Amino acid sequence: MNRFLVAANWKMNKTSTETAEFLREFKEKFQARDHRDIIFFPTALSLSQFQEAHLPSPIAYGGQNCLSQPSGAFTGEISAPLLASYGCQFCLVGHSERRTLFGETDADVAKKVKAIQEAGLIPMVCIGETEKQRLAKETLAVVQRQMTEALALALTDKPIAFAYEPVWAIGTGLVPTVAEIAEVHTFLRQLLVQKRGNSGENIPLLYGGSVNSQNARDIDSVKEVNGFLIGGASLKVASLLEIYSI
Ligand code: PGA
Repeated sequence: MNRFLVAANWKMNKTSTETAEFLREFKEKFQARDHRDIIFFPTALSLSQFQEAHLPSPIAYGGQNCLSQPSGAFTGEISAPLLASYGCQFCLVGHSERRTLFGETDADVAKKVKAIQEAGLIPMVCIGETEKQRLAKETLAVVQRQMTEALALALTDKPIAFAYEPVWAIGTGLVPTVAEIAEVHTFLRQLLVQKRGNSGENIPLLYGGSVNSQNARDIDSVKEVNGFLIGGASLKVASLLEIYSI
């Protein structure tokens, strides 16, 4: 299987001074581990600092969002080719905060996935159910719909990654049980294989939502979990490296 991906979603955090301070400390303390990569998702304003930091190879970075158009009169937006020009290798798509706070739909996600792949980047698509959907026992139906839609326009010969992030677990300290995570990840893996044949086995499937150094080992024990997408606990070098090193 793939390398294990430890992804840091910084959301709308860290000034340029704070990014510089983080990168200085991170470079000093980081020790690469076999088969484990780190992917940073800083704000777009910090991308040039990542580019200039020349971080060692198991470390990559990407954008948190982009528009599906490559360029043009879209004031305030960022395109996938612009992210590529700053050395990004990835771009998050469809994070629940974008879906709920900014009205991003499955159709928007599908267009962005294609645009990101066309720019040579890897889309990391976030999917997951709300608390209401979970209580209504709609989890599998919701993630199936979101994954299917995200794959609708995806280029089959280009890489893609997914992160299962239950919305109710994001930033709340609540985490599904290991059995619940295993159930969803196994279901999603089967769906990927159904849609992509054998290559579906190699599509990274991350878990996100309140991952921290206390629960990371248990979640990592789930066979179909190929990485973490970490918000709060990725903002400090110590906690990020603790999770990376489990
Ligand atoms: P969290 O965020 O780790 O703070 O719950 C995860 C995410 O939103 O990707």
